Amino acid sequence: MGHVQQIEERKMLLLPASLLLVCMLLPAVVRSYDNGLGRTPQMGWNSWNRYRCNVKEDVIKATADAFVANNLAEFGYKYVNVDDCWAGSRDQDGFILPDPTTFPDFQGMIDYVHSKGLLFGLYSDAGKRTCAGRPGSLFHEVQDAQTYAKWKVDYLKYDNCNNDNITPKIRYPIMQMALNYTGRPIFYSLCEWGKDDPATWAPAVGNSWRTTGDISDDWDTMINRADLNNQWWLYAGPYGWNDPDMLEVGNGGMTTTEYETHFSLWCLMKSPLLIGCDVINMTSDTKRILTNSDAIAVNQDPLGIQGNKSFVNGTSEVWCVLLSHPTPGVAAILLNRGHETTSITAYWWALGIDPVGKYEVYDIWQHKILGTMTESVTATVPSHGVAFYRITPTSQ
Ligand SMILES: *[C@@H]1O[C@H](CO)[C@@H](O)[C@H](O)[C@H]1NC(C)=O
Ligand SMILES: *[C@@H]1O[C@H](CO)[C@@H](O)[C@H](O)[C@H]1NC(C)=O
Ligand SMILES: *[C@@H]1O[C@H](CO)[C@@H](O)[C@H](O)[C@H]1NC(C)=O
Ligand SMILES: *[C@@H]1O[C@H](CO)[C@@H](O)[C@H](O)[C@H]1NC(C)=O
Repeated sequence: MGHVQQIEERKMLLLPASLLLVCMLLPAVVRSYDNGLGRTPQMGWNSWNRYRCNVKEDVIKATADAFVANNLAEFGYKYVNVDDCWAGSRDQDGFILPDPTTFPDFQGMIDYVHSKGLLFGLYSDAGKRTCAGRPGSLFHEVQDAQTYAKWKVDYLKYDNCNNDNITPKIRYPIMQMALNYTGRPIFYSLCEWGKDDPATWAPAVGNSWRTTGDISDDWDTMINRADLNNQWWLYAGPYGWNDPDMLEVGNGGMTTTEYETHFSLWCLMKSPLLIGCDVINMTSDTKRILTNSDAIAVNQDPLGIQGNKSFVNGTSEVWCVLLSHPTPGVAAILLNRGHETTSITAYWWALGIDPVGKYEVYDIWQHKILGTMTESVTATVPSHGVAFYRITPTSQ
C-alpha cells in the first residue's frame, strides 16, 4: 500500500475536522463569566434529595466522613453542600444566623468539612424567604455574601422562591456581584428552575444554572428532566453548565437499571454530578454507579461539550458527545425508553463520525473493550436501560 494511500486512510479514521473545529469554538462563543471555577461540571453532594428539611450538623459531618471512607474525592466529588433549612434568623443588624437547634456549631462544621480536604457549599434564595420559609437573601445580598466568605463557604446554590416577581435577570446578577466583591472564589449555582430560559443569559452570571423544575426519584421525572435539558446543549461549556437537577441515584425510587441510565445521561450531558443519596449507608450498587470512573471521565472531559440526543427510532434513542481525552473520540448512549428488551443500533453516521470507519468500542458499564467495529455497534438493551460506549478511531 502506497504512502499517500495510507495517509488518506488514516485521515478517514479521524473525526471530521470541521465538526471538531465547530465544537471547540462553540464554548468560546457563548462563554462569559469566568471566576476560575467550573472548568468542568461540579461534583459533590447535596442534602436535599435525601434529607429535605431534616438536615442537621451531624449528618453533614458524617457525610464528610463517608466521603473519606469511600474515597469519593478521588473520583472527583469535592463539594459537601447543605441545601434549604440551615438558616435560622437575622440578627439586629440583618446578618444571617444558622438555625441554633439543628446547627449549633456552624463554623465548626464547615471547618470539619475542610479538614477532610473537601469543599463546603451553602444554599440561599433570591427572594425574601427560601422555599421552606427560612430567611432569603433578597435585599441582603452583599451582607450575606460577606458572611459566606467569612465562614469560608466555597459554593452557593441560589433558589427562586418568594421573589416579589422581580425578574431573575436582576436578582441573580446582584448576588453574582456580591460574591465576586468578597474576593473569595465561590461556585455560583443558579436555581431558577429554567423558567426564564436561563441558558440564554445565565452563562454571563453563574457557573451553572438549572434548566428544569425539581427532579424526583422516579423514571418519568428523571427522563423528562433529561429531555428538557437536552434542548440547551449548545449553551453549556467550560465555566458554565446546564443543570437538570441533582442525582437521585441510591434513593430507592428507581431500579438499578434506571439509576445506571440516570447516571449515564447526566455524565454525557455534562450535568453537575451532585450525589443526592445517603452516602453514609450506600449499597454496593449505588457506590458502583456513582464511582464509575469511565462514566465520570466522559462528564469531566476537558472539551466540555454537552452531549445530545442524535437519533430517535420509536422508544430507542442514541445520544452522543465528542470527547478529547485521553484520545479524541465519542461517547454514545443507546437508550431504551420502551417496556421490552430491545436491540438498538448506533450507526456511525448518527454519531457524526466517519460512517464507514473502523472504531474500537469500549463498554463503560462492563469496563471492557467489545472489539473493533465498522459502520455501527448494536446492543441488546433492557427496558429503561442503556448501553454506554466510548468509541475511538483505531490506529489501524
Ligand atoms: C470576579 O469577576 C472577574 C471577572 O468579571 C473574575 O475575573 C474574577 O475571577 C472574579 N473574582 C471572584 C473572586 O469571583
Ligand atoms: C445507617 O445505618 C445504620 C444501621 O444500619 C443506622 O443506625 C444509621 O442511622 C444509618 N444512617 C443514616 C444516616 O441513615
Ligand atoms: C448535537 O451536537 C452536535 C455537536 O456536538 C451537533 O453537530 C448536532 O447538530 C447536535 N444535534 C442536535 C439534534 O441538535
Ligand atoms: C428502528 O427500529 C425498528 C424496530 O422497531 C428496526 O427494525 C429498524 O431497523 C430501526 N431502524 C434503525 C435505522 O435503526
